[in-house]
Amino acid sequence: MAYLPDVYNGARAYAYATPLVTGTAAIGRVVALGPDAVVLKPHDLVYVDAVVRGRDDPGAIILMGIAEGMTEGSRKLMRGEWRDATFAEYAKVPLENVHVLDEARLCGSPAEGGLGYGTEQLGWMLQALVPYGGLRSIGVQAGETVIVAPATGGFGSAAVVVALAMGARVIAMGRNGEALEGLKRELGGRVETVRMTGDVGEEMAALKRFGKIDAFFDISPPEAKGSTHFKAAVLSLRPEGRVSLMGGFLEDVPIPHRFVMRFDITLRGKWMYSRADNVAFLSLLNTGVLDVRSIVKVRGTFKLEEWEKAFEAAAGAGRLGELVMFNP
Ligand SMILES: NC(=O)c1ccc[n+]([C@@H]2O[C@H](COP(=O)([O-])OP(=O)(O)OC[C@H]3O[C@@H](n4cnc5c(N)ncnc54)[C@H](OP(=O)(O)O)[C@@H]3O)[C@@H](O)[C@H]2O)c1
Repeated sequence: MAYLPDVYNGARAYAYATPLVTGTAAIGRVVALGPDAVVLKPHDLVYVDAVVRGRDDPGAIILMGIAEGMTEGSRKLMRGEWRDATFAEYAKVPLENVHVLDEARLCGSPAEGGLGYGTEQLGWMLQALVPYGGLRSIGVQAGETVIVAPATGGFGSAAVVVALAMGARVIAMGRNGEALEGLKRELGGRVETVRMTGDVGEEMAALKRFGKIDAFFDISPPEAKGSTHFKAAVLSLRPEGRVSLMGGFLEDVPIPHRFVMRFDITLRGKWMYSRADNVAFLSLLNTGVLDVRSIVKVRGTFKLEEWEKAFEAAAGAGRLGELVMFNP
């Protein structure tokens, strides 16, 4: 996440208690297991999902090392058993958050049927799983047209990649024409682009050039409060269109209520993704339906003690497929 430094320097005001070991999702190897593990074995290559849910209350959700959620239960999880996260040599994580990766298939050589991913490249899953959770929650289907806005940041550009793998055509909206053109150039013929101009009517006219639009994936940052793209995208949807609200707005956002009511529009909020989304996503990756080998670029790998350099590099690496990793 390009904005991770702002999470830890307080600029984003995420709620977490200190001190804590920070971190996000991770790729790692199993060192030790609890007694109830059935499939996992020591040395397995695994993806560790940082979205931890209460076992007796799935509504209590935290992002390990980042955000303690909004309920008494979630705060209890984050301040207790799952306080410390993955920016460490060893991390203790819930069993259900660990997904075995098919190392031979994902990292093996193409000559032997592998896909040839580097293990660090697999860290991009965190970026891709977020939009997958939102796009899947509104049932995006092959052949549909989806607006992704803004499409030029880390999660936004990942949303374009994932929506394409789900079979959709994507209209990528953004302020930066060069970055939009880059998306079209790198991701191919099913990507269309629309510039945000600050004029709702103009943006709608540009969107409607592409015909029927089925869904809008919102991944706006807080800075985009008041941006015209949100209204333009909602108003451009077909009857019974769907909106996935994943953006990080900190303030209330005006909804074109009359349009939403008259055209049976669904507005669906989503924080992160479910365990089922993780499992389905890994199938996309293993089968090669989602092929990001040429897209994911590791912009830097750092030791934990180089954390300042790592955060600096991350702040400048928020474009399509860009990744900065800790490798303790
Ligand atoms: N719901 C969830 O589970 C979830 C999970 C992860 C993240 N999020 C939210 O998603 C947000 C975006 O993530 P990201 O990785 O894409 O962030 P990012 O890498 O920082 O990119 C920000 C994006 O927003 C655009 N933007 C910035 N200011 C804008 C403005 N005033 N008007 C219109 N567009 C503007 C940027 O466009 P330019 O290229 O023109 O600068 C860029 O496309 C985060 O702020 C976070 O809160 C939600």
